[in-house]
Amino acid sequence: MGSLAVLDAEELYSFPEPKPVRGPAVGSVEPLEQTSLICEDGVVASVGNGSSADVTIDARGCTVVPGFVDPHTHLPFFAWRADEDAARLAGLRYETLHRDEGGIYRSARLLADAADDEVLAFSEELASAMLRRGTTTFETKSGYGLSIEGEFRQLRLARALSERVPQTVVTTCLAAHAVPKGKSEGEWIGEIVSDLLPRVAAEGIASACDIYVESIAFQLEHAARLSQVSEALGLRMRMHADQLEDGQGGAFAARWGLASADHLNHTSADAVGDMARSDTAAVLLPGATFTLRQNKKPPARSLIEEGAIVALGTDLNPGTSPIHSMPFVIALACRVYGLRPREALAAATVNAAYVLGLHDRIGRLAPECRADAVVLDVPSFDAIPYRPDHDPVLAVVCGGELAYVSPGGEARVTRA
Ligand code: NIG
Ligand code: FE
Repeated sequence: MGSLAVLDAEELYSFPEPKPVRGPAVGSVEPLEQTSLICEDGVVASVGNGSSADVTIDARGCTVVPGFVDPHTHLPFFAWRADEDAARLAGLRYETLHRDEGGIYRSARLLADAADDEVLAFSEELASAMLRRGTTTFETKSGYGLSIEGEFRQLRLARALSERVPQTVVTTCLAAHAVPKGKSEGEWIGEIVSDLLPRVAAEGIASACDIYVESIAFQLEHAARLSQVSEALGLRMRMHADQLEDGQGGAFAARWGLASADHLNHTSADAVGDMARSDTAAVLLPGATFTLRQNKKPPARSLIEEGAIVALGTDLNPGTSPIHSMPFVIALACRVYGLRPREALAAATVNAAYVLGLHDRIGRLAPECRADAVVLDVPSFDAIPYRPDHDPVLAVVCGGELAYVSPGGEARVTRA
């Protein structure tokens, strides 16, 4: 592996500190100007003056940011569910589709009926599309297995996907996603804690556990049980919280010290205070709000202003968020949730890396960090939410390699 230099960027966002950006620090995120990024052997060597390298990218007039980190996707999965979306656009509710064995149950059947190679080809194509939009790290999850062996198969497919793509991949066990038919919630949670999670931890096939707390899925008592067992096994604990109703998930996650609470559309003002005082990240997923046309938005401004750790993700899944682009999610976060461009940038990079426990070397452009960067064809990051349907990605550096160059970007690249 050689050297790579991104030269003379108009704006470069570095996030030098290995910690999430929260509270007053969010307001003082400032770019470096006319700055170069030098990468050697896959890591950032320096940020400052330019120099020659095996590969150089002329970034004059461009904005350079850390590679986007997508801390919440449902990859690997197989097949889309556009017909369900059309039914919703005609008035049907997500909860009704789910009860009638569409939704998660449908994707579980589609996954079970597909061969491993089909699932991997489908998911790899999505991972490539994510790379072309600047995502250099993403989370994968199970949750469409709905049996012990089904969950294991999806976790193994996640591992196989991670071996095929250039991005950094982190995997979560979301066995508590839907209640398998013929079982009670308690029975399935019992199987997860006694059989699945110990094997997951022993094999190191996932580093976190997640649960969908909602009236159509699981309750807080189940989250408590999974949290205890996850902690004992050294797995991070996360929660799909307060998406369709206020289930007190945000407050629970903060009080129990979970790694994150995700969605938060119905999270109350009291719970915002709990989250702001905790180290639990609030992962906002505006792609799901947009797709489900939810009027109820998360209390994003109070989360930011009261000092919570706010991160952004796509929630890429075939049901509620068929969206893979972090620039588009940033635009939605600004336009629909009221984030400001630099708040959204921190939420999509260093704070998203924090959700995955990777912020010491990912989501930032500082010496020793993994050399993951995106060159955007705009002179200011303000243009990302401003032009939501413009593809701004000129080049993507992933692990120190030039992993993608847009057709328009080729002229800016020199290979020694
Ligand atoms: O994050 N909320 C639950 N899980 C997904 C939806 C999964 C599906 O419909 O397939 C979500 O929105
Ligand atoms: Fe999700």
